[in-house]
Amino acid sequence: MTKVCVIGHPVTHSKSPRIHNYWIKKYGLDGNYDAVDIPCENLREGVAELVAKGYRGFNVTIPHKEAVLSLCDELDEGAQQIGAVNTVVIDGGKLRGRNTDAFGFIQNIRQEAPKFSFAAGSAVVLGAGGAAKAVVHGLLEHGTPEVFVLNRTKEKALILAKSSLAPDKVVIANWDERSKVLEGASLLVNTTALGMEGKDTLDIDLALLPRDALVTDIVYTPLYTPLLVDAKKRGHKTVTGIGMLLHQARPAFQAWFGVMPEVTPELEKMVTA
Ligand SMILES: NC(=O)c1ccc[n+]([C@@H]2O[C@H](COP(=O)([O-])OP(=O)(O)OC[C@H]3O[C@@H](n4cnc5c(N)ncnc54)[C@H](OP(=O)(O)O)[C@@H]3O)[C@@H](O)[C@H]2O)c1
Repeated sequence: MTKVCVIGHPVTHSKSPRIHNYWIKKYGLDGNYDAVDIPCENLREGVAELVAKGYRGFNVTIPHKEAVLSLCDELDEGAQQIGAVNTVVIDGGKLRGRNTDAFGFIQNIRQEAPKFSFAAGSAVVLGAGGAAKAVVHGLLEHGTPEVFVLNRTKEKALILAKSSLAPDKVVIANWDERSKVLEGASLLVNTTALGMEGKDTLDIDLALLPRDALVTDIVYTPLYTPLLVDAKKRGHKTVTGIGMLLHQARPAFQAWFGVMPEVTPELEKMVTA
């Protein structure tokens, strides 16, 4: 049996076991995906235990995405650039780290807004945390000519720009200017925690955003954040964040089980139920 898991602390909130076990069943595979809670101070020992127990690999969630990087024997280009690992494949005791968040972000938009062109215009990304790094990486990889990044803590946005794939294409603006920079943009992405259940709402005026711009929020609890509700009312095409979560899981599943799984409405319904 192929054993895989997600590691984090805490880890009970993770939707990954539901996604992967659904695919294991759907594709008739002999496998199991569980959730393993590893406190930060035990990360090295916890990971070594997974190797010793014969795990094929694992996903990594908060707070270990950055710390796992230094435990890996090999990193793909995305993980190196983004500075975080969300997927590990264990090959003959060696840990191969990858980051599939950028893939998840891009594929979600491709599936939900197939006519959207990443290269056609500029993007505005709100936030400069771990997820923002992956989003900016994905956009630059897919030809977005200019990416505006705005973060409450400006220093983090400056660091993100400097370490990105194409620093000359990343423009940093002040957080207070978030409504103004929307003029002429093709895409608006919220990667901050604002709008999430239990958090403050993102305060932004979409008046200057061209009507044909796409609006996406990577927060998926609730599925339709206040930003997406507002954007929809103004006639924008909107894409929810759940698809990013589902699509980022696909390359990991393929690496462990040799099958590239599909994201279907049935899977989305099961995960959001
Ligand atoms: N759909 C998916 O697959 C997916 C994947 C990853 C993450 N997410 C979601 O994306 C969100 C961010 O995740 P992350 O991993 O990037 O977290 P993170 O590294 O902790 O970053 C959090 C971001 O939110 C900003 N923020 C938090 N509170 C704020 C406030 N009151 N006002 C303005 N900005 C605020 C932070 O700004 P400062 O730097 O100023 O603190 C930072 O930019 C979470 O809600 C997470 O659930 C979704």
